[in-house]
Amino acid sequence: MRAVVCTEEGPPERLTIERRDPTPCGPEQVRIEVRAAGLNFVDALFVAGRYQIRPPVPFVPGSELAGRITEVGAAVEDLAVGDRVMTSIGLGAFAEEVVVAAGGVTRVPDGVSDGQAATLGQSYCTAVFTLEHRVELASGETVLVLGAGGGVGLATIDVAASHGATVIAAASSAAKRDLAVAAGASAVIDTSTESLKDRARELSGGGVDVAVDPVGGALGEEALRALGNDGRLAVVGFASGTIPSLPANQILLRNRRVIGVDWGAWAMQHPAENTALLDTVLERVAAGTYHPIEPSSYPLADVALALRDLLERRVAGKAVLVP
Ligand SMILES: NC(=O)c1ccc[n+]([C@@H]2O[C@H](COP(=O)([O-])OP(=O)(O)OC[C@H]3O[C@@H](n4cnc5c(N)ncnc54)[C@H](OP(=O)(O)O)[C@@H]3O)[C@@H](O)[C@H]2O)c1
Repeated sequence: MRAVVCTEEGPPERLTIERRDPTPCGPEQVRIEVRAAGLNFVDALFVAGRYQIRPPVPFVPGSELAGRITEVGAAVEDLAVGDRVMTSIGLGAFAEEVVVAAGGVTRVPDGVSDGQAATLGQSYCTAVFTLEHRVELASGETVLVLGAGGGVGLATIDVAASHGATVIAAASSAAKRDLAVAAGASAVIDTSTESLKDRARELSGGGVDVAVDPVGGALGEEALRALGNDGRLAVVGFASGTIPSLPANQILLRNRRVIGVDWGAWAMQHPAENTALLDTVLERVAAGTYHPIEPSSYPLADVALALRDLLERRVAGKAVLVP
């Protein structure tokens, strides 16, 4: 089977495609033929050696996937060959097949495509964890979403809108802002030409209740300054590559709060709760409450191009590798 291999940390262009012997399927494992592997910012960080966890090389990157079960371990009772499933695995998804613990695999509901299933786990679990567990969003609040045309951003808009929030979406390109409006944003800010702070305050009539920031850099501080009284800033990520140093006086003013979001750590510490969170997401997708975007796709061999597009902000919405 073919797999993308990182033999040396660095730019995605250093990745290679190798043929590997199939891994044996243990009694509590299943083998999955990968139909789509979601591309996430974290995959590029792993490959670059810039994530907080640095796996020893060589490793196969790729953290979430959807596919069909082709082999079931002897002790597995609730899954069968042919089942359409999805899983989050940290590493290993950029391959033609994976062998994973059966306990970490979830059936894909009818009506959800392989591409959607391979891309909604991280983005929607992060969005729900951010808005429900950390920020405790209330109906009627105004939410400013940065990186609004990216994976976390679009999912956050969808989840916030479903809670009855008014969403202001900030993104750098017209294609991304169009996707944000389609996801439920009622106003947009062009971060390439407009002041995030001034426009967000203007659009919200004085300051937003919540800002969700997966981008960081200079926009992180602007998002803090865009908050109104009792406003909450959710710090989700630093896609810009720069961790902002937020001025404490701006937190004091207006009784603002800055809230950290680390869904990945929470998911590892609370596996049962995280499974329930994913089940909730899938139930809401099936019920038509959430609307995960259909991703664009790249062949497995174009992994470097795909990660380069992600790193250089050319991906609007989500993208998958199709082996
Ligand atoms: N804390 C958590 O639990 C958690 C969970 C999942 C993801 N994350 C993090 O959240 C961040 C966003 O993830 P994502 O999946 O939404 O990524 P994504 O789909 O690539 O979107 C990120 C967005 O960030 C913006 N951006 C600004 N400067 C950028 C730069 N120099 N390079 C790339 N993007 C830039 C881009 O929007 P514009 O072009 O509009 O500026 C882009 O659309 C990542 O840092 C990821 O690691 C955190």
